[in-house]
Amino acid sequence: MDALDQLDELLSCRLDTGRKAVQPCTILIFGASGDLTARKLVPALYHLYVDKQLPNPFRIVGFARRPKTDAAWRDELLQTWQKNSPPKELNSADWNAFAANVFYCEGEFSDAGAYRKLQTLLAGFGHDALRRNLVCYLATSPSQFAPVAAQLHESGLLRDSDGPGFEQKLVVEKPFGRDLVSARQLNQELARFAHEKQIYRIDHYLGKETVQNILMFRFSNSVFEQLWTRQSVDHVQITVGEKLGVGGRGGYYEEAGALRDMVQNHLLQVLALIAMEPPVSLEAECIRDEKVKLLRSIRSFGPAQVSSFAVRGQYAAGEIDGQKVAGYRQETRVSPESNTETFVAARLLVDNWRWSGVPFYLRTGKRLPLNSSQVRVQFRPTPNVLFAAQCGPKLDANSITLRLQPNEGITLHFNGKTPGVNIEIRPVRMQFDYEAEFGAYTPEAYQRLLLEVMAGDSTLFIRSDEVETAWSIIDPIRQAWAGQPLQAAEFYPAGTWGPSAGDELLARLGHKWRMTQNGPPPASE
Ligand code: BG6
Repeated sequence: MDALDQLDELLSCRLDTGRKAVQPCTILIFGASGDLTARKLVPALYHLYVDKQLPNPFRIVGFARRPKTDAAWRDELLQTWQKNSPPKELNSADWNAFAANVFYCEGEFSDAGAYRKLQTLLAGFGHDALRRNLVCYLATSPSQFAPVAAQLHESGLLRDSDGPGFEQKLVVEKPFGRDLVSARQLNQELARFAHEKQIYRIDHYLGKETVQNILMFRFSNSVFEQLWTRQSVDHVQITVGEKLGVGGRGGYYEEAGALRDMVQNHLLQVLALIAMEPPVSLEAECIRDEKVKLLRSIRSFGPAQVSSFAVRGQYAAGEIDGQKVAGYRQETRVSPESNTETFVAARLLVDNWRWSGVPFYLRTGKRLPLNSSQVRVQFRPTPNVLFAAQCGPKLDANSITLRLQPNEGITLHFNGKTPGVNIEIRPVRMQFDYEAEFGAYTPEAYQRLLLEVMAGDSTLFIRSDEVETAWSIIDPIRQAWAGQPLQAAEFYPAGTWGPSAGDELLARLGHKWRMTQNGPPPASE
């Protein structure tokens, strides 16, 4: 280690040392038979247990309709996990010790008697905190969010309180509403049973290490923050690409589409973090205030203007990694005439002092050529003199790319002289790579999110006004597309970057999508 590294070590600074220890609690999971529980929630809780982050004592209770014993549920969870994860993640002694805290309660969501049974189970744990200190996780279908909350409230398991000692928390999975009206209605319904401070609306992107790092990157580095304005930034590109199709989720996806499934939540959240003003403090409400303010400053457009700002597409049959794959209309539980979009690209304008005139391009899709989520902040070109005057468009402008996943890291692209006797300039990269810097370990988003709920910290969750503002941005686009059959040009072969209109959206302003993976610059860039 050289002297500079030693100094860096000394300067690393922990912010969570004063945080309250997580109190003993019971995590109640409604929708316990679902995919999310077995694939995400229980593995996340297991890892927290192994890392000694769960309180002592704790219990996990799954609540669902199908009759099952505790042992059968534990077994089912284990089998699903073994099927989906590398076996090295699981240590059977740890699993057995963890699973001894996992219980199952059979019941209909609408049956008051089932909630009485739940109370008896909780009382049987013989510890006051395990009976009162509850994390009620609604991993159900959205139509059950309010009815389950109502039953919990009526049975006395969920008491509405905003005092410092409130003990019950309600965690609500996405999708939170289908549009502004339904989201508002759901907010109002939940507000009858729980205080806003007790409600944790999940967007799992906020639990990702790299998404959290956006705030650190921006607000602990004066060198970058000074560039983060319309004076320096030409435009911003946010891409969340997935190679996967809809798989077994056709039924859900037919109702959602890419706009509701990804843009309303994950992409707008990333945009809010990238573009928001510095918060007054690191308190949850101050950060959320700034995100809401940013979302509110996104220019609204009516359905008639949508075609100038947003593009949709649907994947047709094609190839991913050399394998033939079916089109969306051929997927299970998808209508053969479906008009649901699996691709969205949009140009949003943020009408505030910092960003006026800077386009923010958003793009997401299924069956794209890469699994890649990244933000590229493209800086303005240099003045048209000296090298720029000689090279013209061949001189690339600088950019910073935040690779959210995979190959997590940040790259600064700038120009440099190619070594040798020739005078040649080309883009080079300055890289920060999570794996090289910190090793491969990045905790699953759900680990972090569950821990934050238990600790009562709302920073990584969506506030009621935030979710409503996000819907108000999306609704006009959705309305413009509703009932409009897809045109031939809106289909894209699986394994390509969406319909050509997605490229034209940028070309109109002289821009071009840039997608870089880790490694040397692709020749086409
Ligand atoms: C979910 C969407 O919220 O996010 C899925 O419903 C999508 O359709 C997923 O595949 C992407 O999450 P991640 O963490 O794999 O990028």
